[in-house]
Amino acid sequence: MKAVIFDLDGVITDTAEYHFLAWKHIAEQIDIPFDRSMNENLKGISREESLESILTLGGAETKYTNAEKQELMHQKNQYYQTLISELKPEHLLPGIGRLLCELKGENIKVGLASSSRNAPEIIKRLEIIDDFHAIVDPTSLANGKPDPEIFLTAAAQLGVSPADCAAIEDAEAGISAIKSAGMFAVGVGHELSMLGADLIVRQTCDLTFELLNEEWEQYRIKRF
Ligand code: BG6
Ligand code: MG
Repeated sequence: MKAVIFDLDGVITDTAEYHFLAWKHIAEQIDIPFDRSMNENLKGISREESLESILTLGGAETKYTNAEKQELMHQKNQYYQTLISELKPEHLLPGIGRLLCELKGENIKVGLASSSRNAPEIIKRLEIIDDFHAIVDPTSLANGKPDPEIFLTAAAQLGVSPADCAAIEDAEAGISAIKSAGMFAVGVGHELSMLGADLIVRQTCDLTFELLNEEWEQYRIKRF
């Protein structure tokens, strides 16, 4: 294991919840019922795809012009940015600060593969920007998760072969992207929503270098 690539929202900090709150705010404005179970399918996917999914759920896929959709996304992002403006280092999810420290001590490269255009702002607020050797710009990509492009780009930026990378995700689209990239996939969350992951932990506090490394060794023995 030469590199660990992190998803951001729901792995490093609980901004997955903020995305949910912001979309719920917009959905209510346009009279579409929206709850946490619907939100599960939006995790990891782009702002544009998220809005299309919500409109489809509400039977409103043809109701809005492109300009109106842009305005809805703008409003969602403004609401979201108000929420993230309060982020501080103490909002790192449990165990993440320790894991970043352990990876540094082990000379493991660290990358960020987030679909969010707000990612640089968030990791600055959490004061962990210097822990990353590569941060993928999602606007430079042709395909979003579950396509592997974002993880392959992170590996290329780190100068590490995908086979030598582990990556951590909280969403099904993300786990699929990691597996398609040929990497060791670590899922944070419930087993049922982490299908295909090579290692599943319930909470971020369970993520230690020791566990990742042990499971990585087992995975390699089974594979090669
Ligand atoms: C992903 C989130 O990380 O980023 C999604 O899981 C979100 O919920 C996507 O839609 C895009 O984020 P943003 O901040 O660019 O709207
Ligand atoms: Mg996520």
